[in-house]
Amino acid sequence: MPYLAENISLQALNTFRVPAYARWFTTINTENELHELYRDEHFQKDPLLILGGGSNMLFTRNFQGLAVRMNIQGITCKEDGDDVFVTAGGGVVWHDLVMYCVNNEFAGIENLSLIPGSVGASPIQNIGAYGVELMEVFHSCRAFDIETGSIKEFDNAACSFSYRDSIFKHELKGRYIITEVTYKLSRTFKPQLSYGAISEELKSRGILNPSIKDVSDVVSAIRVSKLPDPATIGNAGSFFKNPVVGSDQFRDIQSIFPDIVHYVIGNDAVKLAAGWLIEQCGWKGKIVGNTGTWKNQALVLVNHGNATGKEIFELSADIINSVQKTFGVSLEREVNII
Ligand code: FAD
Ligand code: EPU
Repeated sequence: MPYLAENISLQALNTFRVPAYARWFTTINTENELHELYRDEHFQKDPLLILGGGSNMLFTRNFQGLAVRMNIQGITCKEDGDDVFVTAGGGVVWHDLVMYCVNNEFAGIENLSLIPGSVGASPIQNIGAYGVELMEVFHSCRAFDIETGSIKEFDNAACSFSYRDSIFKHELKGRYIITEVTYKLSRTFKPQLSYGAISEELKSRGILNPSIKDVSDVVSAIRVSKLPDPATIGNAGSFFKNPVVGSDQFRDIQSIFPDIVHYVIGNDAVKLAAGWLIEQCGWKGKIVGNTGTWKNQALVLVNHGNATGKEIFELSADIINSVQKTFGVSLEREVNII
């Protein structure tokens, strides 16, 4: 039976580095340990919180239940012609998996280099960056049903992926613990260079025919230039999603703000850059007590040292109000609020 520790600090286990305690805490290293834990009274009765790398969470309070840290390791692969099926344990560090694939020349996730967090969390919000979303390479996952104690397999369609979203954030929120994910990668490399800064950076390095590693290196360099490193300044990446508005609303806003950064994504759908909206409201680089927004990316809220989760949450509420008032656009939090 996995050992349950009592009153454990989660400050080092969330990338915002805010203080919070879990009433009960355990680490899961194998699927078998999950089956054992299922028989524990705390697992049966208490609220559960599944923790990966804690890089997409904001603790605004202590967690009065059982926090289960996913630590199932291991990476295996199976080749079938040009396809490579790579399977990784839910506790594998995402960037370690990316490096494994880059080093073996398995193409498909190099644009997702340096995203913090774990393999098990990667389908939850369908992680995405620099022109690629997880749903493009996700094959299937194994997940432990906390209600029945059984294992279920989800294929790509069953996950209902969309921008920063999946079934695990809606109908099945909190129901499954993802223990393993299989990605369908390729031996054939077709560079995805749609995000302008990648081509520019490759050009400035004099690279005409990039390798998988070149793209990974360039993406990592761009990320480092824009985003704060959670090892030195607490944050959880983008705090809000980029909002989507209808064409009529977009035209109204654009008539007042002609420079608005936007991407047409459908007949009646325009995605707006939340970072731009927040910057226009005067928040970029602003310091508010112990909190603030990042100087190079207004979409990233940061902990300047001793912030509590509540303070960061309050800052996010002020930003939502201000963007609503200026543009009539509602920002939705991307980060999971506990
Ligand atoms: P956690 O924060 O631990 O958990 C996130 C959610 O998933 C919680 O609801 C948790 O309960 C649930 N969960 C975690 N593991 C499991 C599991 N095994 N089974 C079931 N539920 C689980 N995200 C992007 O998409 N693109 C980016 O470019 C990006 N850049 C970032 C940059 C920085 C500097 C930071 C700090 C974060 C960034 N993020 C980005 C957000 C974050 O990295 C991702 O959301 C990541 O997938 C979170 O992984 P995690 O293991 O830390 O999840
Ligand atoms: N912008 C501003 N001011 C800012 C920030 C951005 O004007 O302070 C403008 C930029 O100039 C650019 C546009 O907004 O024209 C978009 O900015 P950027 O390319 O930095 O990307 P983003 O839309 O802000 C999204 C993801 C990131 C991901 C990057 C790269 C969301 C919510 N965020 O950010 O994901 O890394 O694209 O693909 O979709 C995360 O989810 O945590 C995350 C970091």
